[in-house]
Amino acid sequence: MSFPVTRLRRLRRTDALRGMVRETRVTPSDLIQPLFVRAGSGPATPIGSMDGQFHHSIETLVDEAAAVHTAGVPAVILFGLPDHKDEAASSAYDDEGIVQMALRALRLAVPELVLITDVCLCQYTSHGHCGVVRDGRVDNDITLELLAQTAVSHAQAGADIVAPSDMMDGRVRAIRAALDGDGLSETAIMAYSAKFASAFYGPFRDAAHSTPQEGDRRGYQMDPANANEALREVLLDIEEGADMVMVKPAMPYLDVIRRVREETLAPIAAYQVSGEYAMLTAAARDGLLDERAAALEALTAIKRAGADLIITYHASRAAAWLA
Ligand code: PBG
Repeated sequence: MSFPVTRLRRLRRTDALRGMVRETRVTPSDLIQPLFVRAGSGPATPIGSMDGQFHHSIETLVDEAAAVHTAGVPAVILFGLPDHKDEAASSAYDDEGIVQMALRALRLAVPELVLITDVCLCQYTSHGHCGVVRDGRVDNDITLELLAQTAVSHAQAGADIVAPSDMMDGRVRAIRAALDGDGLSETAIMAYSAKFASAFYGPFRDAAHSTPQEGDRRGYQMDPANANEALREVLLDIEEGADMVMVKPAMPYLDVIRRVREETLAPIAAYQVSGEYAMLTAAARDGLLDERAAALEALTAIKRAGADLIITYHASRAAAWLA
């Protein structure tokens, strides 16, 4: 039956009616807050490329993480800025490394907060690539050992979930085997499965001091044009033992999130990356967008596409807006 008998506007008439037929709801429990921690003490320093985000010392990280948790956000994902970088990324898997020390402090101070760690070598290598460089290329299989060591040291320091973001082939299997071999079978893996070689990571590289000195990441991250391949990555990661999978970035890849949703029952995280955040905050700063409304709409769209969880720099503010 069509117009005039059918009138879809009837259910849009009031707030209450709209609320009753709303299909997608974002709640604070869907959100994950990324936090940056640097070596050394002192106050948090603002990250120039990302409005409202900070480089924390361990002291300020603990306060911020407690505030995030109080806001209703259940989890944080940690990125470390070490004071030392070398070819072998040795501070990535050092038990006294910045992320490991931060994990121990957070575990004690905010015991209920879910602690996720980004597992990658790019912030720790002198050249800024996500793996070990041999003969001018990132060597996949040598890198796996270091990633596995990094994941184990994070888990030992208190990580609930390790999240490999390097895009080496076979990393999920290598990490699962290393964790299980060390008696860490309860540590979960959130795989950055479909991670695209995206221009939207620009502000993050400034935040994490992880720009490759030479070349780019297209030899290991995915071509933005490929969605079938994204599904292959997701299915492989699940087969290798991933507990959750991820699509990254989020908004330019909503179709990929939807296709992953149709192919798997595993929880799906989407990463609304630094460039997506920067677009919203810069437009809001210029008075072009209402930041709150635009950010909540973006998060709703990502969830509607099929994501269960969203990693977003807006997490703690969005939780306050939703309260
Ligand atoms: C590390 C990593 C990156 C991001 C998350 N983990 C950078 C990259 O791969 O270049 C990007 C996050 C963001 O842009 O918000 N490999």
